[in-house]
Amino acid sequence: MTTILAIETSCDETAVAVVQNRCVLAEAVASQIAQHQVYGGVVPELASRQHLEGINLLLQQVQKQTGLSWGDVDGIAVTCAPGLVGALNIGLAAAKTLAVLYQRPLVGIHHLEGHICAAYLTEPTLEPPFLCLLVSGGHTSLVAVRDGQTYDPLGQTRDDAVGEAFDKVARLLGLGYPGGPLIDRLAQTGNPHTFALPEGKISLPGGGYHPYDMSFSGLKTAVRRLVEQLPSPLPVADVAASFQYTVVQALTRRAIRCALAEGLTTLVVAGGVAANRELRQTMTTTAAQHGIRVIIPPMKYCTDNAAMIGCAGVLRLTQGHHSPLHLTSQSRLSLTEISTLYVKD
Ligand code: KG4
Ligand code: ZN
Repeated sequence: MTTILAIETSCDETAVAVVQNRCVLAEAVASQIAQHQVYGGVVPELASRQHLEGINLLLQQVQKQTGLSWGDVDGIAVTCAPGLVGALNIGLAAAKTLAVLYQRPLVGIHHLEGHICAAYLTEPTLEPPFLCLLVSGGHTSLVAVRDGQTYDPLGQTRDDAVGEAFDKVARLLGLGYPGGPLIDRLAQTGNPHTFALPEGKISLPGGGYHPYDMSFSGLKTAVRRLVEQLPSPLPVADVAASFQYTVVQALTRRAIRCALAEGLTTLVVAGGVAANRELRQTMTTTAAQHGIRVIIPPMKYCTDNAAMIGCAGVLRLTQGHHSPLHLTSQSRLSLTEISTLYVKD
């Protein structure tokens, strides 16, 4: 049994959890949505301040729920990259303090590895290899997860992340922040076939299109033009539904094509946009038609949380990894560079 205290502060959720192997013993999340909403997006300085205010309270709550002393855990996992540096630093400072105070190993976690590991909480018997479609506010990629939990990026967005596209289109439609859940809800009452929107394709130099890479900035521009041209009142539900349909088709087609070509029979969908109802439904039914098993964590483990960081922490610690106390936060770090976060026992 490996028990991990996990801390996540990479963006606008302060989260703490205790995870034992692939089981969540306790968790607490403080969302900052209300604070950022008035500005229409995440204000980094405000995010750091909110993390600083909230982190100790969450640590106390989680400690109470488990009845553990932090000296009882096997390690302290913390998101250290990628993310907002000021925000990451708050979690990192808290984790380092506890690691020194209780003489426990510090385990820096790559935020996207956390999102992938949310699938282990959902399906405790899951083991690599599998394909993961990572769809969050800052990242969109198709990654093959190989034996030994190594990552092989096979496709990615060439411009906007898909969550970013949801947020920008929501702003264009005057819906507010965060855009994803608002479009998701509104699209349910709209007709997805009202407007034909372009699915961004990446041309290859020799002709044809990249099978897995994607683009969302052209789609966002097409929605902007549509909004400018349409007479008022704007049919917001139909625009939202048409946009969401185009995105879901683009993601589903690439993920299924990639899984089939790689011979991977399990597909994990992870990250904030995996909370999208149409994506969950379309991916599940399309994959089933091709004999592919789909694992999508419940909504609360799709968006940012500390349980997924704890699960990644268990994995890294059992592989003999821990991080030096001079570990720093990084705004960008590729999944293929994860080993730079660790020293081996
Ligand atoms: O993974 P996440 O919580 O934070 C990052 O690591 O970026 O993802 C946040 C993104 C935001 O862009 C948000 O609008 C989007 O996930 N999102 C959704 C839904 N819920 C959250 N997008 C579409 N449909 C949703 N239901
Ligand atoms: Zn995230």
